[in-house]
Amino acid sequence: MPERMILLNPGPVTLSPRVRAALGRGDWCHREPEFAALVRSINERLAAVYPDMAGRYEAVLLTGSGTAAVEAMLATFAPREQRTLVLANGVYGERIAAMLAAHGRPHELLAGDWTAAVDLAALEQRLAADPMLRHVAVVQHETTTGRLTDLAAIGALCRRFGARLLLDAVSSFGAEHIDATAWNLQALAGTANKCLHGVPGLAFVLAERAAWAAPKPGAGSLYLDLRPYHRAQHGDGYSPFTQAVQVAFALDEALREHAEAGGWQARQRLYRERAARVHCVLAELGLAALLPEAECSCVLRSYRVPAWTDYARLHAALKARGFVIYAGQGRLAPAIFRIAVMGDLTPDDLTRLGQALTAARAGGAAAPGP
Ligand SMILES: Cc1ncc(COP(=O)(O)O)c(C=O)c1O
Repeated sequence: MPERMILLNPGPVTLSPRVRAALGRGDWCHREPEFAALVRSINERLAAVYPDMAGRYEAVLLTGSGTAAVEAMLATFAPREQRTLVLANGVYGERIAAMLAAHGRPHELLAGDWTAAVDLAALEQRLAADPMLRHVAVVQHETTTGRLTDLAAIGALCRRFGARLLLDAVSSFGAEHIDATAWNLQALAGTANKCLHGVPGLAFVLAERAAWAAPKPGAGSLYLDLRPYHRAQHGDGYSPFTQAVQVAFALDEALREHAEAGGWQARQRLYRERAARVHCVLAELGLAALLPEAECSCVLRSYRVPAWTDYARLHAALKARGFVIYAGQGRLAPAIFRIAVMGDLTPDDLTRLGQALTAARAGGAAAPGP
């Protein structure tokens, strides 16, 4: 394998030297004041990534992957007595419904085609027809296809009907716009190892202060009940369970880099530039995007596997040259592949990616003849 792999999968990402070095910062105990101070500082900075949220939303840090954060958010905040309306057009939206089912929470799934946007008319109709639907759960960036959900429209409907939004922002937090006020956001789930450029192992939930304070029964899970985490992390700074200490060092450094580079807007600009470069190369090679550019996130786009190869060969040809692309998921698996543009990539990496793709087209990844 080439020494430096460029990860174009949707996390984990290619690390910056600073973040990689932070992993070796030292041996700390998670029950010592210096780690408590680090957790408090990380939580404060997570809540400040979007200035509109600072002071009104509070974060808790959870050892686990993005899925743990989404499930913990739902277990802690999705109501027990009222249905949550789940909007889904991909793997991760459908997973929200599966999590609610696993926790025995009443919910209604508004599932759409994986290549189509959320049906806004159906959402409006459901919210207008049923005053008991007061929570909406949705994915901001449906990584299955690369679609960026129209949260301006969905959030406006939530606000109009007084429904609280529970957001899976796992593959968007730190790079896409989040307007907590306009969207009537109650809570969101995010992770260290995607747009923030940390390493896998820590995830987080940001929720409104009032939501943390509300007296609620247990979450139906000991580990995923976020209220004890919130009480502890916003009290003495400790957590109920062992935290991924070295991953926290990396997230600390990644957040510093994120802020120094200009925050989420700068990251969005950077990703857009990178995605446009990749798109140009693929278009020159005759590869078609799955979705129109205007519907895509800045983080990842899906492309149709061209007739001259198959996914396995294309993946192998690129990996031999140091690039990891990502397969399609579920029913889209044979037809598409995905390219994310997160992580510590240089312009030269993208030039080499173009060369690698061109070489793959020229023969390296050709499917055997009939
Ligand atoms: C939108 C979204 N939600 C949830 C997840 C699950 O995250 P993890 O694989 O870290 O558990 C992912 C992973 O890619 C994702 O893209």
